[in-house]
Amino acid sequence: MKKSEYRASWECPSNIAMVKYWGKKPAQLPMNPSLSFSLKKARTTTTVELQTAPKRTVEFLFEGQPSPFVKRIENYLSTMSIEHNWLNNFSFNIESSNTFPHSAGIASSASAFGALALCLNDIKQQVLSRQFTETQFLQKASRWARMGSGSACRSIYPGFALWGRMNGFPNSTDCNAIAVDEQFHSDYYLLHDAVLMVDSGTKQVSSSAGHNLMNSHPFKDARIAQASMDLQELIKAMKAGDHTRFFELVEREALSLHAMMMTSDPSYLLLHPNSLKVVKKIQAFRQQTGLAVGFTIDAGPNIHLLYFGYDKSKVHAFIETELMDLLEDGKWLDDRIGDGPIKL
Ligand code: PMV
Repeated sequence: MKKSEYRASWECPSNIAMVKYWGKKPAQLPMNPSLSFSLKKARTTTTVELQTAPKRTVEFLFEGQPSPFVKRIENYLSTMSIEHNWLNNFSFNIESSNTFPHSAGIASSASAFGALALCLNDIKQQVLSRQFTETQFLQKASRWARMGSGSACRSIYPGFALWGRMNGFPNSTDCNAIAVDEQFHSDYYLLHDAVLMVDSGTKQVSSSAGHNLMNSHPFKDARIAQASMDLQELIKAMKAGDHTRFFELVEREALSLHAMMMTSDPSYLLLHPNSLKVVKKIQAFRQQTGLAVGFTIDAGPNIHLLYFGYDKSKVHAFIETELMDLLEDGKWLDDRIGDGPIKL
């Protein structure tokens, strides 16, 4: 076997948005700002090896097997090569694996494009014999990740990440995410995300098709304004440690994302009857116990139960006793806020 000329290997987490990105402008720029936290356990590991070649070829193995995701990577590299010419001169061997199942209700494209973008920028430094500062490197990786999957740009940073231009955050931009280094109430660094799998069926609508529906959505302007307002308020609540307001806003954001889908043309109902039952149970549990718990939902039927680490045993007991029958084969995963990508 020929030795690879350049090689990089990175592990990158997925992330979960509290203020949702929904709707995009050309070049994968977001219609509205979003705020997420990176996960700890749900991660993609990717290794990229390059050899000089007359034209670009791509081989991709996912968990040791050829995967149709290779098409998406080919398209991605072809788009990126318009600005980054060096991508044209190599054959690419890419291997990837995830710590979580594909249908888990965790954004696998976020961790996948995060890991790929980190590898490619690592290799870019080798190919061009340049060393970026850490800040430059992460910013570039976040931009590259955005071009693969918008939400992936937030996966490059540990803890909380903000993507999109936002008043009060001078470094914020639509082009990449930034780390949010506001001092939030200490509880928010203990955030946990129990991913409750209601239905693992294939998506009714891809997220790109979903984003496109926002272009002519009758509530487009109101949604953009709402997301910015929610973000400002959420940051205030997180600084003050106002958990009641925090969960009100996070839940409203999730429901607003689904409201957009329910009222687009064509409309989509992505929730499963059990998604609503789980949501109702979480709200009743909060009311009965007074615990700081709530939910968020991405563009699918699975529910993310958010809670703080110090309530772990009570929340786990609640899931095991009250929610199991509503979950597909009783499946759920427990994750928490994480420390970001790792170079291997
Ligand atoms: O990154 P995409 O294009 O798959 O969009 C995902 C958008 C949501 O997950 C629904 C919300 C978000 O901000 O992560």
